[in-house]
Amino acid sequence: MDKIKVIGGNTLEGKIYISGAKNAALPLICASLLTEKEVILKNVPKLSDITFLNSLLEFMGLKVSKKEEEYKGTLADTFVYKADEIKELIAPYDFVRKMRASYYVLGPLLARFKHVEFSLPGGCAIGARPIDIHLSSLEQMGATIEIKNGYVVADAPNGLKGANIIFSKASVGATCNILMAASLAQGVTKIENAAKEPEITDLIDLLNKMGAKITGRGTSVLTIEGVSNLYGAVHEVVADRIEAGSYAIAAAITKGRIELINANAEHLQQPLRILEKMGIGIETTNNSIIVDGRNRTFTGADIYTDYYPGFPTDLQAQFMALMTVAEGASLVTESIWENRFMHVPELCRMGANINIHGRASAIVRGVNKLSGAPVMATDLRASFALILAGLIAEGETIVNRVYHLDRGYEKLEEKLKAVGANIERIKESD
Ligand code: UD1
Repeated sequence: MDKIKVIGGNTLEGKIYISGAKNAALPLICASLLTEKEVILKNVPKLSDITFLNSLLEFMGLKVSKKEEEYKGTLADTFVYKADEIKELIAPYDFVRKMRASYYVLGPLLARFKHVEFSLPGGCAIGARPIDIHLSSLEQMGATIEIKNGYVVADAPNGLKGANIIFSKASVGATCNILMAASLAQGVTKIENAAKEPEITDLIDLLNKMGAKITGRGTSVLTIEGVSNLYGAVHEVVADRIEAGSYAIAAAITKGRIELINANAEHLQQPLRILEKMGIGIETTNNSIIVDGRNRTFTGADIYTDYYPGFPTDLQAQFMALMTVAEGASLVTESIWENRFMHVPELCRMGANINIHGRASAIVRGVNKLSGAPVMATDLRASFALILAGLIAEGETIVNRVYHLDRGYEKLEEKLKAVGANIERIKESD
């Protein structure tokens, strides 16, 4: 398995181009299952999760073709999807166990083909991750759902019907799935307590371009008037706010200055406010964020992860890496996932002083320095937190299980090297 070696101590300065958002691209790709016409997605990041979802959908019969194109200063992938010959309505265990977001096939396939079988994903490193809200909402829309041999078998022989649905939690995945299902349902669906993440508004924009009738964009109440057919469309994937937030911390922690090009500051209001509060300089333009940690001492701060526009759980681990070397103490409370402190013991092995209280809170007391060590993480964002710690640690840090990073950070070493990091990938065969 590949590893990443980081030698700490370099100050990072320069520009980083932010890629399209993985978590937006995944449901956008699945939206192409709603129509037999071509859906063209631009600014798709080159990530293993995307390749993986494409291979699941190709197995089902989706036609996928790709070309590389210039997108706002960098090269990104453009994919053309055509779902005119879907043959398999089953997402097998071998695919789903490798990527939970395969559940985005549920809503579109059930709405268009009236049947879908989907392997139940089970838990993962950050928590139990149930999909009960997805399933009970589809039931409210008239689907019958059975669990057989580890598979969800969903049927709606007479098509899905509009319903008034109140989510018990503002789930991102369930909001996307029900938006897609309701777009082809008969009648009007109303979702209350819907998620409001930028990835959701991006999906709404694509669906509306395809002919869906969705109102309430950006709010927690969404109304979807079902239509009988959807059409092709061309859409650009929104910038990845979590990638931008991660590199913002790379600038801060190394006391450098990085301009994050194509980043959208509006999508990062809470994290940027916290960085400013910690003493880091933030400047924003209409398409970039400049993060300046030069000649600054920064202090601890408290974060509480919450649904958007609250502080994103997907930036919790990276902020914790920064807090390990901030002056004073920081309190981190994780409210979304029940098991998202797996990076703490690894950061402590590098010299951090962190105490976990119960399952949801951790106190980080700033130390003067970290030291390099071999480390490994159990999820994508935690892996990036260890890279961040490695950037300032004395000596060499080896981050194992790089496949996590390849799922969600496009050209990670290339981007960090370009701003001055001493980082390299050690190939398995090296
Ligand atoms: C998405 C993101 C993930 C991010 C998370 C929260 C993708 C591919 N992943 O995950 O990176 O950390 O949003 O911002 O976009 N829940 C239920 N029942 C359900 C669904 C969710 O109880 O049916 C709970 C979850 O256990 C969790 C909370 O709701 O506590 C939020 O989960 P959700 O928003 O659904 O996360 P994902 O869409 O899986």
